[in-house]
Amino acid sequence: MARPVLRTELCDRLGIEYPIILAGMGPVAGVGAPVATADLAAAVSNAGGLGVLGGVAYSPDALRAEIQKVRSLTDKPFGVDLLLSPNFLVPRGKSSGKGTRAPRPAQKLPEEHLRAVRKIADDLGIPWKEAPREMESTAAGSWIPEGQSYAGAQMEVVIEQEVPVFASGLGSPEPFAKVLKAHGVPIISLVGTVRAAKQVAAGGADFVVAQGTEAGGHTGRIGTLALLPQVMDAVAPVPTIAAGGIASGRALAGAIAMGAVGGWVGSAFLVSEEANQPDLQKQRILDAEAEDTVVTRLYSGKTMRNISNPLIEAWESSGLHALPMGLQGALIRDLQYSIAEAGRNELLMNAAGQTAGMLKTLRPAKEIMADMVGEAAEILGRDLAARVTASV
Ligand SMILES: Cc1cc2nc3c(=O)[nH]c(=O)nc-3n(C[C@H](O)[C@H](O)[C@H](O)COP(=O)(O)O)c2cc1C
Repeated sequence: MARPVLRTELCDRLGIEYPIILAGMGPVAGVGAPVATADLAAAVSNAGGLGVLGGVAYSPDALRAEIQKVRSLTDKPFGVDLLLSPNFLVPRGKSSGKGTRAPRPAQKLPEEHLRAVRKIADDLGIPWKEAPREMESTAAGSWIPEGQSYAGAQMEVVIEQEVPVFASGLGSPEPFAKVLKAHGVPIISLVGTVRAAKQVAAGGADFVVAQGTEAGGHTGRIGTLALLPQVMDAVAPVPTIAAGGIASGRALAGAIAMGAVGGWVGSAFLVSEEANQPDLQKQRILDAEAEDTVVTRLYSGKTMRNISNPLIEAWESSGLHALPMGLQGALIRDLQYSIAEAGRNELLMNAAGQTAGMLKTLRPAKEIMADMVGEAAEILGRDLAARVTASV
């Protein structure tokens, strides 16, 4: 059977067959490596989309190895996603000679928060255990070379490895735009507000991803249907890609009909065979209804959509304000470690979007791609003409 045709400007600019990009999803708790590793990224690229590695938690050496692994699995274009939060751009601490080591974050954490987190663990019957020192988040800066910043050290690898596409999930690409453009690397920047959209477009983004609140992981407050046209108007002629709630050809077709050049898709690929997350977390997504996700600052300090669980409920009812990104992760590090040690994996982070309610089968990424492309091509190529009468 002939392959369906579904092309937009995005395909021409990135050298891909279909306007679908795998969201560069980072790690969920309990797994060191990201959800979007080389296996998933390569599977999406091989199926005609753009696979994007979730690069945020990799050290430069690990990132280099994972990029090389993608190349061993596909000869198609792919991307790397990093977070360019200002927290990650500032060089940290003084060099010890071997590299920069941030102070143990627990030293800076408010007593009230530490006590509250211990109480939540007690209330949930979780024996308290301190996480080993070597498990400190990479965000604490343990591997940052002298004179470097967190994202800067990763970016050197992106350039050195001639990664075909760069994506930033947070922050403006401005500090790196010049060097990326000099190397001919297109920049994709994710935003959840019109203000951020204007910032990243001014900062050098070649494509802006308008991510609505439906999305899994870090997310904003505006729905995709409301955000997409506002971002398009704010950044034109820079093209906009839609994200948040795109887990079907129907949603992709809708976004393209609205003027998006493609879809940036996360949750739908969380239930792919290649997604790197524990079976329990995949199963909880497969079992979920659309109402089963909540937005919480528990895990990172920033608003993040997750499948709800009693730990999130306890945090939300504690009345505590979350700490800033970086510190909040440090605050709950021992708690998450204790949960994992106690085998209470149902309490671990399980980021997923509102489309969880329609994700009912675990499949290879290739099938997810084929269904999405087939359905969108059918709608845009045939159904619309049969269902809609319109003229101007
Ligand atoms: C488990 C998970 C991890 C994520 N990690 C990242 C990340 O590291 N960087 C990033 O840019 N976006 C990340 N996101 C957000 C996605 O990039 C994307 O915007 C979102 O999944 C799109 O909405 P959808 O889930 O409805 O498809 C993550 C999302 C999930 C579900």
